[in-house]
Amino acid sequence: MLGLYNFIEVASAKSTFMPVAGSAVAAQVNDLYGFLLVASAISCLLVIGGLIFFAVKYRRKGEDDKTPYISHNSTLEFLWSFIPFVIFMIVFAWGWYIYHQMRTFPEDSLEVHVFGQKWAWEFQYKSGKKSGGTTFETNSDSKEGLWVPVNTPVKLIMTSRDVLHSFYIPGLRIKQDVVPGRYTAMGFNAEKKGVYQVFCTEYCGNEHSNMMAKVHVVSQEEFEEWLKENDDALSLPELGMKVFDRNCVACHNATNVRKLGPGLGGLYGSTREFESGPSMVADENYIRESILYPQKKIVKSYGSGIKMVPYQGVLSERELAGVIEYLKSLK
Ligand code: CUA
Repeated sequence: MLGLYNFIEVASAKSTFMPVAGSAVAAQVNDLYGFLLVASAISCLLVIGGLIFFAVKYRRKGEDDKTPYISHNSTLEFLWSFIPFVIFMIVFAWGWYIYHQMRTFPEDSLEVHVFGQKWAWEFQYKSGKKSGGTTFETNSDSKEGLWVPVNTPVKLIMTSRDVLHSFYIPGLRIKQDVVPGRYTAMGFNAEKKGVYQVFCTEYCGNEHSNMMAKVHVVSQEEFEEWLKENDDALSLPELGMKVFDRNCVACHNATNVRKLGPGLGGLYGSTREFESGPSMVADENYIRESILYPQKKIVKSYGSGIKMVPYQGVLSERELAGVIEYLKSLK
């Protein structure tokens, strides 16, 4: 759009002015940023230039030089309000358009669970593969980090094991807070292969500035090869099934047939009606809350049956992610 960023890129001769733009959204963010920069520069020139020009032109020329009485100028006042209004609305609509793309997750996205912890990022794939989580990743030769295939929509399902963190990939122009006690999501579709830096951008203690990781955007084949390396762990749904069989089967079926509690087949993505409060679609956060704090939202048809015990503090974040992936796999 407008090619403004190209102008900036040429002007800065591929300097460190902006990191590489690894996705279509990143290129759009650059364009919007370029527009803001140029609009601000022009405004600045007009205001400061006008100030200097008028100060010189209308400076006091002698003892009896008096300023004539000026009340107002409607045309001028309208223009200096309306033109900035139009510019702000363009920025708003443009920003909304880009943001909307960032917050739309295609159905076929590759889902990866991300755990933030003082002071490292851990990536958990559904296959069971775990990456990162222990070391600071500043070395791009490391095989740790987040690996994703190029030109593939990716959805990160993120949470923290301790305090607030924020997951930021400058090369993809995306950032999302990672919050203990709930899931947040972030999506991207990297179109350029390469290694991208991840930073934590929420102050989280001593080693905050070292809380880094790498995103490796590779071909589909390389990704699958990497995914198989050292992966002897149970897949997330398998782990979830074990946890389910140990903790849940006394009261719940893995089908939609009711036992003591509701059957959990087909739960994910279904609309839930509650005794109080608005209805909602059962997503990861709803399932998480229903496991950890089952009394928070009581489904309408549940009645005054047996109350489920809270699982807060019983399951690890990985086990919880496993149970959620297992429930998501039940039809
Ligand atoms: Cu984690 Cu700052």
